[in-house]
Amino acid sequence: MRFPWLCVSRGGGAALKLHPQTQVLSSLSAPSRNIRSSAVRASSSHYVTTPIFYVNASPHLGHLYSAVMADCSHRYKTLQGFNSKFATGTDEHGLKIQQAAAAAGRDPLTFCTEVSERFKHLFSSCNISHTDYIRTTEQRHRQAVEHFWSVLCRKGLIYKGSYEGWYSTQDESFLTPSQVGDVVDSTGNEIKVSLESGHKVEWMKEENYMFRLSAFRSQLLDWLTGNPGAIQPERFYHAVIQWLQEDLPDLSVSRQRSRLQWAIPVPGDPEQTIYVWLDALVNYLTVAGYPDKHKDWWNAVHHIVGKDILRFHAVYWPAFLLGAGLSPPQVIYVHSHWTVAGKKMSKSLGNVIDPLQRSKMFTTDGMRYFLLRQGVPDSDCDYTDSKVMKVLNAELADSLGGLLNRCTAPALNPAQIYPTFCSQSFPPEGQTRTRAVEEDYHMLETVGGLPGVVEKHYESLQVYKALEVISACVRLTNGFLQRHTPWKLDTRDQGDQRWLDTIIHVSLECLRVYGLLLQPVVPAISDKLLGRLGVSLSKRSWEDLEFLPRFKGIKSPFEGRTLGPDSGVLFTRLESPGVEKQKKPKQPKKSYKLASSK
Ligand code: MSP
Repeated sequence: MRFPWLCVSRGGGAALKLHPQTQVLSSLSAPSRNIRSSAVRASSSHYVTTPIFYVNASPHLGHLYSAVMADCSHRYKTLQGFNSKFATGTDEHGLKIQQAAAAAGRDPLTFCTEVSERFKHLFSSCNISHTDYIRTTEQRHRQAVEHFWSVLCRKGLIYKGSYEGWYSTQDESFLTPSQVGDVVDSTGNEIKVSLESGHKVEWMKEENYMFRLSAFRSQLLDWLTGNPGAIQPERFYHAVIQWLQEDLPDLSVSRQRSRLQWAIPVPGDPEQTIYVWLDALVNYLTVAGYPDKHKDWWNAVHHIVGKDILRFHAVYWPAFLLGAGLSPPQVIYVHSHWTVAGKKMSKSLGNVIDPLQRSKMFTTDGMRYFLLRQGVPDSDCDYTDSKVMKVLNAELADSLGGLLNRCTAPALNPAQIYPTFCSQSFPPEGQTRTRAVEEDYHMLETVGGLPGVVEKHYESLQVYKALEVISACVRLTNGFLQRHTPWKLDTRDQGDQRWLDTIIHVSLECLRVYGLLLQPVVPAISDKLLGRLGVSLSKRSWEDLEFLPRFKGIKSPFEGRTLGPDSGVLFTRLESPGVEKQKKPKQPKKSYKLASSK
């Protein structure tokens, strides 16, 4: 079949043959998909979580990245018709918070509330559409933790013992000798640090409760070998398998109250408080409704975590869950870290990026797009302001914005409508071609297969790959317009007019597909784009992704309809002195001055 995408929506799924010029798309194929299955999905649940954030400091870029990834997943699943839950929140207990509150001269709860509000404010400013915001100091959470603890006790998995070993307060983590190394600090003293995080560790010896982690090695290995997609991307899956080959000692799950007061007390033993990581991990169950009504949500849980907290989520947490008779998470998506101009982001280096301030500078959708376009989960990514401007100007302002501008410009589209598609100008396979050329058919084929390719990347949360292929398609459509220079057609000639209408119809159809697919990433920009095309809210779900039905001889719901109102430039070009000066904007539009970027 010449156009495999013609049958994709019927569950086809043939591999796309792509034009050699479209390098970026050439290795991709459209997976099997059925965009008409949302009725089935409506009864299915999806539950996505971010880590809960420590409140010892204000939010930074990395925190927003975790939240934007989860938001993208939640919005994508909702578009597909899933009943989706999305939880985020703050991790408020532990020594680190206790010390930070003391240093700020605040009582711990007041301190936690203040910082938790800052996270909440960031998320609402950045269009993070969480359905629950959990704080570990809430009563509902304390009840869930106490219940979880009592189940583990009842099953004989917790015993009183004596812990002696290394502890990092910064990571709230116990470490084995092989996880610790020597370094010389800035004052010339030799200190012990965690090899994984670089944070200082201290020797600790105390009586506390231990969890029989060592008993879970083979169950954990069975879970992972039976579920090779349980930890993604793959390299992190292999890392966890490797950890499970090493020593897996029992884990201390409480602290003496004399050392740590700011924590949930161990039920029945007021002298001990619960280890902050056990407390924190249970937040995912609390939100699911544990202990009474968590089953449906729990079977659909997907965690998003940074690489530094993988061991807690992929070893300790599944072991706790298995111990409590619950299933391990469906998928743990791991992402790497953001560095800043090549350096680790840290308070001491003074290079911490404030995500709220940058969202004001570059717009919320601009930051969301940048983080997801440049964030490669497999490896660390580097942040610079100039890179943000470069990416956003090229892809959102010039390429996507320019395409919309061209198709809706009164000179090309004076009636401001979705014009008529003419089959003679763009005949189906086998018929004599008059206007459309080989590359145009190739573009149709590629854009037709795009939803399937994007779906595959959204599913694995490799969002940068989805944005890469969407961006390549936007370039193809711009190339289509450039190739046919519709502005040179003679509209007094009927044939020319029909071809002009067809070019605009096809381009608007491409834009409609791009707008629909971009909704999880840049909701405000997509809304503006789809609004301008006159696509109503009820026609913006995954099942509306049928591309160019007129080419298949099917009626188009948009043909002949009036476009939506012009609400201005899709994305205003960003400009700052010294950056991109040599490049002339392709569209005449106002520039957004980056006053604070100097
Ligand atoms: N409170 C724990 C998580 C408990 S979840 C049951 C915690 N909090 S954190 O605030 O330190 O980190 C939250 C998330 O931010 C983690 O996923 C972490 O990997 C991520 N990031 C921290 N620094 C980061 C970057 N520089 N870049 C990207 N993400 C980073 O850990």
